[in-house]
Amino acid sequence: MSTNQHDPHAEALRLEHVTLEFPGSHQPAIEDVSFQVGRGKFVAVIGPSGCGKSTILNLAAGLLSPTRGEVYFDGERVTSVNSEAAYVTQQANLLPWLSVKANIGLALKFRKVPKDERDERIAHWVRVVGLTGFEDHYPRELSGGMQKRVAIARALIYNPSIVLMDEPFGPLDAITRLKLQQELLNLWEEQNGTLIFVTHDLNEAIYLADEVIVMSSGPGTIRRVLPVPFERPRSIGSLVESPEFAELYNDLWGLFKSELQMSDATA
Ligand SMILES: Nc1ncnc2c1ncn2[C@@H]1O[C@H](COP(=O)(O)OP(=O)(O)O)[C@@H](O)[C@H]1O
Ligand SMILES: [Mg+2]
Repeated sequence: MSTNQHDPHAEALRLEHVTLEFPGSHQPAIEDVSFQVGRGKFVAVIGPSGCGKSTILNLAAGLLSPTRGEVYFDGERVTSVNSEAAYVTQQANLLPWLSVKANIGLALKFRKVPKDERDERIAHWVRVVGLTGFEDHYPRELSGGMQKRVAIARALIYNPSIVLMDEPFGPLDAITRLKLQQELLNLWEEQNGTLIFVTHDLNEAIYLADEVIVMSSGPGTIRRVLPVPFERPRSIGSLVESPEFAELYNDLWGLFKSELQMSDATA
């Protein structure tokens, strides 16, 4: 664990003994979940479908409140929508009637950033995510990968203090996925914000994160928190070839495999 464990100023998000029960369900979605995410850390959350990964992001975003326990952001209890958090949901959720640049600039408009500055920052982010030439296109004219790029630029443009990403690369083909993983890595390593990234892809978790939180299902609990010791900046290409990567992958696979069997048994 980090040395900051007890320093509230170094911690971005903390869940303390959080249980969430949806009305009418026979078991909690998550039960007694506690963890913390240090400021500037990249944390991946993995686990089988239905183990409560999206629920955890919704709690961090303040869209759900715990049935028991507490959620803290920057040392303050989260009691309503967390306006410090940028949320990249599983679907890109772009506004279909707005162009690429208008979608990317949405948060700046809400924050009443003057038009000149807004245009400048949008132009910068269009370049950063490789969408030059597509500024005036509409979401329906873009591929899935391009839509994801817009969603990511839209989240990062206002320097949010925490970014929540829910399986953002899920539906993409392997090549596009690898490309976006490396792009996200580069962006994050430059910005150094706090990022919580939900995935069911073990490789992705190891490529990207400082720490991997492995969850169990039925009800969702934390099984293990594994540190990922690779230096930054990282290159996915060279990580994949290192023996340390294979070792970590095997550890994670061991944990994950037993989860899959458990969730199969209860399915
Ligand atoms: N709005 C809801 N009402 C009732 N149950 C829900 C609701 N949302 C999620 N659940 C249940 O809570 C559990 C965790 O869901 P979720 O956080 O979406 O899992 P994951 O993202 O890991 O697939 C699942 O059993 C799911 O069926
Ligand atoms: Mg989910």
